[in-house]
Amino acid sequence: MHKILSVVGTRPNFMKLAPVARVLRERTDVEHVIVHTGQHYDVGMSDSFFDALDIPSPNYALAVGSGSHTETTAAVMAKLEPVLVHERPDVMLVYGDVNSTVAAAMAAAHRGIPVAHVEAGLRSHDRTMPEELNRCVTDHIASLHFAPSPDAVLNLKSEGIHGESVHFVGNVMIDSLVHALPKATAALAVGSVNHERTRAGAPPYVVTTLHRPSNVDDPERLRDLILALEALSREVPVLFAMHPRTRKRLEEMRLVPNGGGDLHILDPLGYLEMLGLVANAGLVITDSGGLQEETSYLGVPCLTLRPNTERPITCLEGTNELIPPVGSTLLSHARRVLTAKSPRHRPIIAKWDGHAADRIVEVLCND
Ligand code: UD1
Repeated sequence: MHKILSVVGTRPNFMKLAPVARVLRERTDVEHVIVHTGQHYDVGMSDSFFDALDIPSPNYALAVGSGSHTETTAAVMAKLEPVLVHERPDVMLVYGDVNSTVAAAMAAAHRGIPVAHVEAGLRSHDRTMPEELNRCVTDHIASLHFAPSPDAVLNLKSEGIHGESVHFVGNVMIDSLVHALPKATAALAVGSVNHERTRAGAPPYVVTTLHRPSNVDDPERLRDLILALEALSREVPVLFAMHPRTRKRLEEMRLVPNGGGDLHILDPLGYLEMLGLVANAGLVITDSGGLQEETSYLGVPCLTLRPNTERPITCLEGTNELIPPVGSTLLSHARRVLTAKSPRHRPIIAKWDGHAADRIVEVLCND
C-alpha cells in the first residue's frame, strides 16, 4: 500500500487537489492523507471549496492563519513536521506556488520524504513576487515535476531539471473546471448573483477580481483601479468578487465607490458560482493566475493587470492579455474588448482536457 500525503492551504490549491483526490479515491492500493495548513480559513475562502469540489475533509487541519510570508511559511513547517513524522508518507504532493506549498516541500525535504510538485515549472521571471520564489524553491526541492504546459518543461530544463523527473501532464485546474462546468452553469440558471443579468444571451457584464499585493497594497494604485472599474460600470455591469485582503485595504482607505454606476462589490464567491459567472461573462479583469487559465479554456476575453505572467501560454494560445495596472489603460482596453465583433471560440490547449490528474496518478502509482 502506497501512502501519498497532499498538502494544501489556499483557495487555488483546492481546485488543484480535487481532481487528484478523486482519481486517488478509486485506487485500492493507495492511502491518501490530506493536510490543510489553514493559510486560508474563512468559510468563503476554504470550506465552501471543499464542499463544492467534493474533496474529503482534511485528515489534519494545521490552522496556521495569516501572517507575513515568513511567519506563514515558518508556521506551516513547524506544524507539519510532527504530521510527517507520524504519517511517514512515501511521497508528498504539493500544489501551485503559495507559501504553504514551499513550506511543505521544505519540511518534507528535511525529513527525506520525496516531493512531487503539481504545476511545476511556471516562471514569471519576476523575483519580487513571493509566488516566484515559492515556485523556484519548490521545483528545486521536488523529485517529481508535473508540468502544465511545454513552456514549464523548458523552464525546468533551463534550470537543470530534466529527464525522468519531469512529466508534461496538463493542467489540473482545467480538470476541476471540466468536471464542474455543467453544475456551475445550472446553478447560475436557478438563481444566484444577478442571474437575470448574467444569463446567457443577456447583455454583457464584466467579472473582476484583484488581490495581488502589487495592485492592492498601494493605495494610489488601488484607488485608480477602483475608480476605473466604477467608470466602466456606468457602461456595463461590473461584478467584483472581492478578496478579504482587498476589502481590508478599501476599508483602511475609506474608499466607497458611489459614482452611480452598476458596480457590485461581492464577497468571495463559491467555486461553482464564480465559474458560472465567468463562463457567461463578456470580459474578465483580474490579477489572478487561475482565472487567466479558466478564461482561456472557456474562450472568455481576459485582461490581466500585471506586467508579466507565469502562464504565457494563456496569452499565446488563449484569450489572455497583459495590460499595465493603470485605470485609463484598463478602461480603454475594456471598451475595445467589449465592442469587438469577432466571434468567440474556445482555444484548444494541449493536455488541458480534464485528464491531467489521471496522468499524475498514473506516474505516481505505476512508474
Ligand atoms: C495567497 C497566495 C496567492 C494566491 C492567493 C489566492 C501566497 C504568497 N499568496 O494570497 O498566490 O493567488 O492566496 O487567494 O501564498 N485573509 C482573510 N481570510 C482568509 C485568507 C486571507 O481575511 O481566509 C486575509 C488576511 O488579511 C491575510 C490576507 O488576506 O493576511 C492575505 O492572505 P495570504 O494567505 O497571506 O495571501 P493571499 O493574498 O490570499
